[in-house]
Amino acid sequence: MTHLQTENHHPKVFGRRKARPLKEQTQELYDNLLPSIRFNPDSFNWDTQNKLVLEIGFGGGEHLAFQALQNPNTHFIGAEPFINGIASLLKLIEEYNINNISIWDDDVHLLLDKAPKKEVFDRAYLLFADPWPKKRHHNRRFIQKDNIKRIHELLKPGGHWYIATDHVTYREWILEHLNASDALFTQERSDIYARPPEAQWPKTRYEEKGAREGRHSAYMTYKKIN
Ligand SMILES: C[S@@+](CC[C@H](N)C(=O)[O-])C[C@H]1O[C@@H](n2cnc3c(N)ncnc32)[C@H](O)[C@@H]1O
Repeated sequence: MTHLQTENHHPKVFGRRKARPLKEQTQELYDNLLPSIRFNPDSFNWDTQNKLVLEIGFGGGEHLAFQALQNPNTHFIGAEPFINGIASLLKLIEEYNINNISIWDDDVHLLLDKAPKKEVFDRAYLLFADPWPKKRHHNRRFIQKDNIKRIHELLKPGGHWYIATDHVTYREWILEHLNASDALFTQERSDIYARPPEAQWPKTRYEEKGAREGRHSAYMTYKKIN
């Protein structure tokens, strides 16, 4: 039984979990590699001396794999329920022999519920999260008051939360919500529309899709205050 089938799953994942069947080789990685790197919040040493980073909704995992290779002494936890995305990351992990990523293959809210109520993460990423453009779906957006408070609680003093979007109304929503909680975070980039250097912040699949379709992205860096 996988995480995805456990009975404590609650319906916060509104997107797809699977788009197409996995190829045999990928299924093999899914069956054999994933169990060995699946994130277990109950047995994880949250007091590790290593830096700790969370990526929410890593999609195909290209950003996560890049960061993990660049920062071998940092441990990365990636949350993503989409099976084909997880499979893409598993391929990268195998190909580049990456050993500092753990995968939470489920709704990130379940992970946020299980993580300790203390400052454990140095950085968090939320890149091109689903924008849920229809008004009646706005409550599905990850950026909500409670999640902002929870990420703030989990970040170490001075920790950073990197957020990007190519969606105009979600961008406004993000800026508004993070500004509304201006006692919690401060936005550090002077020009949020300037693309950060790829050597620090590589392009993701959704960013490239947005660019192909003519959308401009915004890149925010929020620093925890207090
Ligand atoms: C638009 S995609 C962006 C993927 C990737 N970050 C990128 O930039 O290419 C949003 C991703 O968030 C994932 N997602 C949606 N709801 C989630 C949740 N509750 N917990 C974790 N991931 C979630 C989706 O499965 C999807 O892969």
